[in-house]
Amino acid sequence: MKILEAKFVRGFINMAQEGYEEGWHERNGGNLSYRLTPHEVDSISDRLFQHGEWTDINASVPTLAGEYFLVTGSGKYFRNIPVDPEETLCIIELDETGTKYRIRWGLVEGGRPTSELPTHLLNHAIKKRVSNNTHRIIYHAHCTNIIALSFLLPLKDEVFTRELWESMTECPVVFPEGIGVVPWMVPGGREIGIETSKLMETYNAVIWSHHGIFCSGDTYDGTFGLMHTIEKSAEILMKILAVSDRKLNTITPDDFRQLAKDFGVTLNERFLYEKKGTTFKELYGI
Ligand code: 13P
Ligand code: ZN
Repeated sequence: MKILEAKFVRGFINMAQEGYEEGWHERNGGNLSYRLTPHEVDSISDRLFQHGEWTDINASVPTLAGEYFLVTGSGKYFRNIPVDPEETLCIIELDETGTKYRIRWGLVEGGRPTSELPTHLLNHAIKKRVSNNTHRIIYHAHCTNIIALSFLLPLKDEVFTRELWESMTECPVVFPEGIGVVPWMVPGGREIGIETSKLMETYNAVIWSHHGIFCSGDTYDGTFGLMHTIEKSAEILMKILAVSDRKLNTITPDDFRQLAKDFGVTLNERFLYEKKGTTFKELYGI
């Protein structure tokens, strides 16, 4: 099958376009990766390059040995992905140790996979295990309102989860496990990848302070929808913070417990604490 006709490639390109249209991918901001099924690898194997140099991943992911990934290229612009996928994307194969990769398709004008490859692959490794092999997508976007919030709220999972849940009723249903927060770290390396993947044991979304979000999911719709929901909730909270020093009304811990019961989701009580204060100054010193 022609690679550009494969459903997983078309879904990837659509998602990249939608993310760009949301304004989350200025310049080369953000990156996306998809872990192919064995059947998908078979279906395109006659279209792959035969040779490629093995390159260090700068991380070790033995449980992903021999797997194939469709990945955005480093420095490539999301706005160009639908226009020229063969120049902006690549398919990589991992070696049998899970420490090296080689390019098997794409990047026809040169280049390498995203600089966040260590984080993507470390997250894929965790998610493959904890999701029973169902999660295949890792998505990184520079979402405006989440970035803004990371300058205002304490950088704690409890605070971000609770405030985002409170800002839009269906948030606890979309991410009942909560959301993790990594403090500011240098991007593009193994250390930030390890910190992120530790949080991916529990969460499907992790905020990189002053930088963006990583989301994991089993479908393009589900992963994009998670990013979209989190960012919309952050936008609502930013509007509240912009006009008032407190909320007059909100959703209470007991309301959340009722919602969880009716929607059949389990919410961690850790996020349903009694707040100590009313104004944002009392709560967070802002
Ligand atoms: P890449 O162009 O290397 O994917 O980097 C973009 C980015 O968002 C880094 O965090
Ligand atoms: Zn980034």
